[in-house]
Amino acid sequence: MPPKNKINKKGLNIMFRLDGKVALITGAAGGIGEKIARTLHAQGAIVALTDMRAEPMEKLAQELGSNAHVFVANLTNSDDVNNLVKEVEAKLEKIDILVNNAGLTRDNLFMRMSDEEWQLVLDVNLTAGFKLARAAIRGMMKRRFGRIIGMASVVGVMGNAGQANYSASKAGMIGMNKCLAQEVASRGITVNSIAPGFIRTPMTDVLTEEQKTALLTRVPMGALGESQDIANVVAFLASDEANYITGQTININGGMIMI
Ligand SMILES: NC(=O)c1ccc[n+]([C@@H]2O[C@H](COP(=O)([O-])OP(=O)(O)OC[C@H]3O[C@@H](n4cnc5c(N)ncnc54)[C@H](O)[C@@H]3O)[C@@H](O)[C@H]2O)c1
Repeated sequence: MPPKNKINKKGLNIMFRLDGKVALITGAAGGIGEKIARTLHAQGAIVALTDMRAEPMEKLAQELGSNAHVFVANLTNSDDVNNLVKEVEAKLEKIDILVNNAGLTRDNLFMRMSDEEWQLVLDVNLTAGFKLARAAIRGMMKRRFGRIIGMASVVGVMGNAGQANYSASKAGMIGMNKCLAQEVASRGITVNSIAPGFIRTPMTDVLTEEQKTALLTRVPMGALGESQDIANVVAFLASDEANYITGQTININGGMIMI
């Protein structure tokens, strides 16, 4: 078993500082989003938490204390999406880091997949990220600094039976981020994607031991990843140390695919 990762106090805390930076994190009430919020906050960022589920975010913001703010928004609601960046900028003056992390699945075999299942997944996982990035880069361009990080998936890279909508949304995010990266590279804005493999979250907690064992035969490291493994890379990509990295997809999957 590989060791469990924690924030390395001598490493992460000295490097990848984000003091005074404002980070908007979507899906902040979820397993990975919460860990991203905690990690960026620990590195000195002012975190703007957004999700459609208010309660877990309020709890998290209370625990974090200062420099954590809650913005409830449903990413299927176009008014919510269109107003979110404005609201965050009105309250916190700017957005330096946008983490497009919110996501959901509606799995079905291709032939049985309904228009609604297709559309919902594309709307939340891809279109909302497009609109938020489009709104956030205005201010980033003026300040000549920005970090946009999109949560893709190993499934967006390799496909998976029963997940055509999810895979299309995640592959779409990777492609979209590469285009945006090229358009804003000269303005001090980097745009990257992260493609997690199987990460231990409430989503994977529901798997049976049998399912987990079968799944882990595909992972050379023989273990599920932790949300912290993802959050560490978000902190790095958001930092000044990752200045020269743009248009990339960072695969975090215990060796499940090697590309
Ligand atoms: N857990 C994994 O193994 C794994 C693997 C690869 C990629 N990912 C991706 O990582 C991201 C985070 O996943 P997670 O494991 O933390 O899942 P999660 O379900 O714990 O968190 C997702 C969050 O998105 C929010 N959300 C969903 N629909 C929304 C909407 N319409 N409006 C606003 N918020 C909405 C949910 O409320 C939830 O808090 C997702 O994009 C997911 O696709 C996860």
